[in-house]
Amino acid sequence: MKGRSLTCLTEYSPDEIRMLIELGLDFKRRFYAGERIIPVLKGRSIAMIFEKPSTRTRVSFDIAAWQLGARALYLGWRDLQLGRGETIADTARVLSRYVDGIVARVKEHSKVEELARYSRVPVINGLSDLSHPVQALGDYMTILEVKGKLRGVKLAFIGDGSDNVLHSLLVAGAKLGVDIVIATPKQLQPDPRILEAALKAAEESGSEIRIVEDPYEAVAGADVVYTDVWVSMGQEEAREAKVRLLQPYQVNVKLMEAAGSKALFMHCLPAHRGEEVTDEVIDGPQSIVWDQAENRLHIQKAILSALIP
Ligand code: CP
Ligand code: NVA
Repeated sequence: MKGRSLTCLTEYSPDEIRMLIELGLDFKRRFYAGERIIPVLKGRSIAMIFEKPSTRTRVSFDIAAWQLGARALYLGWRDLQLGRGETIADTARVLSRYVDGIVARVKEHSKVEELARYSRVPVINGLSDLSHPVQALGDYMTILEVKGKLRGVKLAFIGDGSDNVLHSLLVAGAKLGVDIVIATPKQLQPDPRILEAALKAAEESGSEIRIVEDPYEAVAGADVVYTDVWVSMGQEEAREAKVRLLQPYQVNVKLMEAAGSKALFMHCLPAHRGEEVTDEVIDGPQSIVWDQAENRLHIQKAILSALIP
């Protein structure tokens, strides 16, 4: 995988995805065994371009790079000449003469694709409006860690069917044999390109992908109940309409009771407490959101060490 960009998990094979997840678990085991620094990227550097705010992605990539012996450089979009109109292509051409990899969080997905097209070094998508591949890799690492398997695990996603995190969970899950059921209103369906890729991958892996309207139908027998914010960064104008539409999709105690006591609760964070999830659920015994957030650090080490030459 050395030298490859990661803009969307559609471009990665099931074996490659599994390998990254296993590598993430290995980095975590070694970290807890006392190997905090594993300098396989000694002397390398990565640029982190962020067009939107971030806590987890920004900090976990920065610390991951450091733990691998590399240096990470945080670059706010508006602080670069990008913010004054220098093109994405020219920025990619120049930055990739300085650094060995680029992590980019962008508004439109086409921007991360353009960066990758003109960069001589790997470009890693740290979230776009279409997908959040590094999140999904960390999430499946967490599920494998807790459940001991991925094939046949049933994940119920409750909420916005057009969500970027869901898109990546769908694509990766379908490749890994995870059964996914999405409960979402008719108006908020997944991106057709993503759904098509997921259905094709599911045919090959044997996983089952379903979209329903009723959240109670979706959580029946679920191993994992997953949700994300109703209003993603940049969608603030649509807030009122989305919040109204998604009211029946709150993950609360009643819904978790319907899922059963063995169901885990996951959320990529940040959470809008009281909106898509209640305090009782996110702070409750079935929630694994803090382990999920922690695993971002270890999966970033897997991603960086596998991709950066
Ligand atoms: N889950 C996630 O990507 O969080 P940040 O926006 O804080 O990076
Ligand atoms: N769907 C959310 C995820 C944040 C990590 C957003 O795009 O804002």
